Amino acid sequence: MDFKTIIDPKARSATACAVVGMFEGGELTSAGAEIDAALGGQLRKLQTGGDFAAKLGDVFMIAQATGARAARVLLVGLGTKGHFNRKQYRKAVQAAAQALAKSGAPDAIVYLALDAHPDLDEHYRARIVAEVFCAQRYKVPDLKTAPKPKAPRLSTVSVAAADAKSARAAERGLVIGAALGSGMALSRDLGNLPPNVCTPTYMGTRALQLGKEWPSIKVKVLKEPELRALKMGSLLAVAKGSTEPPRLIVCEYRGTDKHVAPICLVGKGITFDSGGISLKDPGAMDEMKFDMSGAASVLGTLRTVAELGLAVNLVGIVATCENMPAGNAVKPADIVKTMSGQTVEVLNTDAEGRLILCDAITYSRRFKPAAVIDIATLTGACIVALGNHFSGLMSNNEALAAELESAGIRADDRSWRLPIGDEYVEQLKSNFADLANIGGREGGACTAASFLWKFAKDLNWAHLDVAGTAWLSGSQKGSTGRPVPLLVDFLLHRAQA
Ligand code: BES
Ligand code: MN
Ligand code: ZN
Repeated sequence: MDFKTIIDPKARSATACAVVGMFEGGELTSAGAEIDAALGGQLRKLQTGGDFAAKLGDVFMIAQATGARAARVLLVGLGTKGHFNRKQYRKAVQAAAQALAKSGAPDAIVYLALDAHPDLDEHYRARIVAEVFCAQRYKVPDLKTAPKPKAPRLSTVSVAAADAKSARAAERGLVIGAALGSGMALSRDLGNLPPNVCTPTYMGTRALQLGKEWPSIKVKVLKEPELRALKMGSLLAVAKGSTEPPRLIVCEYRGTDKHVAPICLVGKGITFDSGGISLKDPGAMDEMKFDMSGAASVLGTLRTVAELGLAVNLVGIVATCENMPAGNAVKPADIVKTMSGQTVEVLNTDAEGRLILCDAITYSRRFKPAAVIDIATLTGACIVALGNHFSGLMSNNEALAAELESAGIRADDRSWRLPIGDEYVEQLKSNFADLANIGGREGGACTAASFLWKFAKDLNWAHLDVAGTAWLSGSQKGSTGRPVPLLVDFLLHRAQA
């Protein structure tokens, strides 16, 4: 898909489809009013005649827009004007993208970004257009044998800007939105692939491919002997019960001076979490193929950052293995020695995420990072606490937490701060080792994060628990690509600082 910017405040350009908005009550956006005049008042008549209520997300396609320069006009409902902001704008763009995909239009001009809205500058208005149209075009890598439906005809989307200055901001927004689209597509593909395809080995292969595609990313894939040499006893213990060998994937992206301390992103890459000997209920066990979503978001973010050539140094560290039951699997009461030297009593083999992440966090220290952010589908408890809307955010650094929180707001990929601390570490006491790997049902997301905190003590560290946000269940089952938007926005701001 091609994205372009044009300067056209009066909606006078020739196009296969002009996209304009209307608020409930009939008020048109600026371009909408221009087009309505050209169409002899047709748009307003749709509203007064009761054919278009202009509820948020309503669409009406005028396929023969006689009188206008556009061949078609797509009218999009914006809901009540008083309630219109970032979220409503995104919904309206989503509705437009859906309607355009079903239409025969090969190109379109979106005029929705012309008008100023509270907390939506030109840059974000254009960026959301590119991001949403990319997401609309995303196809799950399915293995269905029926012939694939024809690709939609739409191939070019232009965003109208009022003047040259707005056009420049919109241009950058489109570039970022499209790069975000391709990073999210990578992240979603990895999540959606079945676990017999997306194994730790496959994750390594995809990372190496990414490094081939983007020479700014140097990729190393460490195998078992190297993990043993590094003394990653905890990661190796989780991997033990599987016939699929584990990997530690290290991707170094250099976007600025080599003396600038990097940001480390650490991803949980459990390609299937059966629970191990502490086996899970079969109910939704298939969804545990998504337990590598944190890892997928690290690779997706790297792709976007490389595509944009952001002026940051970034290290992606992915710890990836399967969690399976077997005769030689790690079992409750086993004590493992982590890379940090601390010992852990494994009381529940299903609390495996923290066991692989603690070693990956310890490994990150060699990069002398400015900040370490781990991303993990870590706990069901986080879903109980926050549902599917907010990722859990824990941190030992107020400034870093605030940065991540606002990045999520700007990117519509929100997180909510949850506590960590000694109170929770207390729950992780073991009679036989330095720490136990579980701390009771209450506050499960916080005890899990506090476990990681013990390995990140003197680092600037944050943890994103994306158990509720990385994928959708039910008829919509599939990866969401979150939290790539949050991470990219965070890095965009770091790059400007
Ligand atoms: N991958 C799961 C967390 C999870 C569960 C994410 C359901 C999304 C949906 C994780 O490895 C896990 O099993 N956590 C346990 C921890 C418990 C044993 C302390 C959990 O949340 O039940
Ligand atoms: Mn588990
Ligand atoms: Zn897990």
